[in-house]
Amino acid sequence: MNHITLDPATPEEWREFSTLAHTMLDDMLTHLASLPGKPAWQPVPPHVQTALKEPLPQEGEGAEAVYKQFKENVLPYPNGNLHPRFWGWVQGTGTPLGMMADMLASGMNPHLAGFNQAPTLVEHQVVEWLAELMGMPAGTSGLMASSGTVANIIGLTVARNAKAGWNVREEGLQTFSEAHKSLTMYCSAETHSWVQRGVEILGLGNKALCRIPVDAAYRMNIEELRTTIREDRANGFQPICVIGTAGTVNTGATDDLTALADLCTEEGLWFHVDGAFGAIAAISDVLRPIVKGMERADSIGFDLHKWLYLPFECACVLVRDAELHEKTFNMAPSYIAPMERGVIAGGLPFAGRGFDLTRGFKALKAWMSLKAHGVNTFARLIEQNVEQAKHLERLVNAHADLEICAPVPMNIVCFRYHPAKSASHQTIEQLNALNQEILLRLQESGRAVVSSTVLQGQYVLRVAIVNQRSTMADFDELVRAVVEIGTAVAV
Ligand SMILES: Cc1ncc(COP(=O)(O)O)c(C=O)c1O
Repeated sequence: MNHITLDPATPEEWREFSTLAHTMLDDMLTHLASLPGKPAWQPVPPHVQTALKEPLPQEGEGAEAVYKQFKENVLPYPNGNLHPRFWGWVQGTGTPLGMMADMLASGMNPHLAGFNQAPTLVEHQVVEWLAELMGMPAGTSGLMASSGTVANIIGLTVARNAKAGWNVREEGLQTFSEAHKSLTMYCSAETHSWVQRGVEILGLGNKALCRIPVDAAYRMNIEELRTTIREDRANGFQPICVIGTAGTVNTGATDDLTALADLCTEEGLWFHVDGAFGAIAAISDVLRPIVKGMERADSIGFDLHKWLYLPFECACVLVRDAELHEKTFNMAPSYIAPMERGVIAGGLPFAGRGFDLTRGFKALKAWMSLKAHGVNTFARLIEQNVEQAKHLERLVNAHADLEICAPVPMNIVCFRYHPAKSASHQTIEQLNALNQEILLRLQESGRAVVSSTVLQGQYVLRVAIVNQRSTMADFDELVRAVVEIGTAVAV
């Protein structure tokens, strides 16, 4: 049988592939440069939906042919998060340099369990820098992860094992599951839904999660937390962890992290902070006070693919106590035992800090971006987003038919269309339906993408600004579009 490979086989074939690869790169850069003139989103037309439902290809049609199909049928129909007027959910935009770093990481394709290689040093370096940015002490352990969800769940896993009081890795939870000794975790009612996934996966179950009500600013009610913990102890439960949020998904509120750190110290509880996007406020001198107290956390989970704008996927978990982190995940099968010398010298540190054995080189885009742009540039970018949120708040407040529906402490603005002349005779249901229709027509128009949430029964338009491409004028256009669509729908 002739030797076969997926690489180009001859110098001529390498040259041909190089030509195609350069075309791909040029096309993608042209695409990025032309985003402002394109719709923020457009639906996938029926002929494209049909084209993307094909039989399994037994024989290859060649890279050039497939690339042509990508360009026609895939590239024009994303969910829109690269666009300057996309503020739906909390999704980052990516960056040209991050894109190139992903290409280099993929091309190099190193195995980031660890090993004696430069990419491992890069990940160590990035984790160290991120710990410093978050105000965590030297020696803090960490790991690049695929998402805020995974980063947070890694943190909670260490919390559970450290605080359970028995060897969870060996005994599991079943031996110790008498109802009156239930491990309990606490978060606010505004905590993102990752936390439910977390307690479910950890085997604690959703009932082990106590959701503490929030105050008018959507921050956890600390006194209620204190009382609940004490009552739970008295009733035979075993509180182990409090989860604070830096930047809630609904409104961008940040819990009083200093008060939570104090309470956790008093009560001997693990203090985890979900800082999916809000933790990034720590990199700015102006915004850092918002997340004060986060630096006292036992663990922090946060994303670089949201408010540091890096391409998906890129997140990080930090754990203050490196030994507890490692004790939670380390494994030592003989086929990956470390040696004094050679490729596996230094062992597989990252495989011992999370769920994955085989891991990609996510750290590269963080390393290149931090070095190329500098922390100060990122700080200015997030400050710009916060100023844009304030600008939007002012525009909404200045318009008789719009109203702000929650405080704007950071980069999320919740508002709704509420026509002044009909204010007295519109029911909440009518207003909710009106705003939902505005949201959908806005998205379908391609003028901008925002998402929604429900605050105290009110359906609101939610503008989450984690976009390095938005300009102030983009928010003027949003307000114009909402008012125009609102006026048309309301008649
Ligand atoms: C506050 C908060 N926590 C956690 C997450 C989950 O992060 P990821 O989508 O990276 O898993 C999000 C996502 O929007 C979030 O806003």
